[in-house]
Amino acid sequence: MKTIGELINLKGKTAIVTGAANGIGKAIVARLAEAGCNLVLTDMADKRLNNVARLARERDVEVECYTFDLSEKEDIDDFWGKIDGKGIDILINNAGIYPFKNFMTLDYAYIDQVMKVNLYSVLWMCQNMFRYRKNRGGVIVNFGSIEALLPFKADLTQYSLGKIGVIALTRDLAREYGGKGFRINTVLPGGINSNGTRTAAKTVLKKFKVGLISDAYNFMQRIPAGRLGKPDEVACVALMLCSGMASYMHGAMIPVDGGFLSA
Ligand SMILES: NC(=O)c1ccc[n+]([C@@H]2O[C@H](COP(=O)([O-])OP(=O)(O)OC[C@H]3O[C@@H](n4cnc5c(N)ncnc54)[C@H](O)[C@@H]3O)[C@@H](O)[C@H]2O)c1
Repeated sequence: MKTIGELINLKGKTAIVTGAANGIGKAIVARLAEAGCNLVLTDMADKRLNNVARLARERDVEVECYTFDLSEKEDIDDFWGKIDGKGIDILINNAGIYPFKNFMTLDYAYIDQVMKVNLYSVLWMCQNMFRYRKNRGGVIVNFGSIEALLPFKADLTQYSLGKIGVIALTRDLAREYGGKGFRINTVLPGGINSNGTRTAAKTVLKKFKVGLISDAYNFMQRIPAGRLGKPDEVACVALMLCSGMASYMHGAMIPVDGGFLSA
């Protein structure tokens, strides 16, 4: 039987992390590097991504950075060609946006853009993983949200829709690729104190929309743990899912939400 140290060790493995420049992605990079994993990092934010990479390299792992927008399938396919995806053992589809917009003002272009980032990019990244890792297998960790199961805040229909799509995609691919050497799960973060949520909170406060402010208050009241989570608390679960600690976890939704969904 392997020791816990051996199970969690990712030395010799290589992982892609999307949205690696900020928040949860940045925290995942730190934990994977600590576990000895080589990294291929992607984001749109160039300078921040390079800083994250610099910190990871201090752990003596190899780190490459690719700056591009995940909204277009062609760019995702090009990226996999450039990195020669055969060497990728782990894929973490973490990048995402949470723009607030009233349902009645949604138009096709807006919802299309949200879906491109939050759902279609995950689909194309998974497709490339299966293409390049045929006969080799690998691990995929996708990012949904508790909002997909329990829509709690106003003006986030487009977000919930994309995130429930990620859950459906994960379950479908788990059925199809489980017997082909792949393990694939979805993490459902609750309220996590990241750059993204801080920016969203500032925008809500600036607009002074009473409904959104009361949603935020009620959201906090409902969390049994009584506080927001830290990016590292999600990163530790992502690391566990990538590792031998989770060898029989497949097709699952894992809330990391301080008990929000249970309350
Ligand atoms: N923080 C939370 O409370 C929370 C809750 C539920 C789900 N999530 C999910 O967890 C994931 C990470 O959230 P976070 O709070 O760390 O976000 P964040 O905004 O702090 O970081 C997201 C990163 O993704 C990158 N990104 C966004 N759009 C991109 C695009 N088109 N192409 C390339 N990169 C892009 C951003 O540049 C950013 O660095 C997201 O999928 C989010 O939906 C977060």
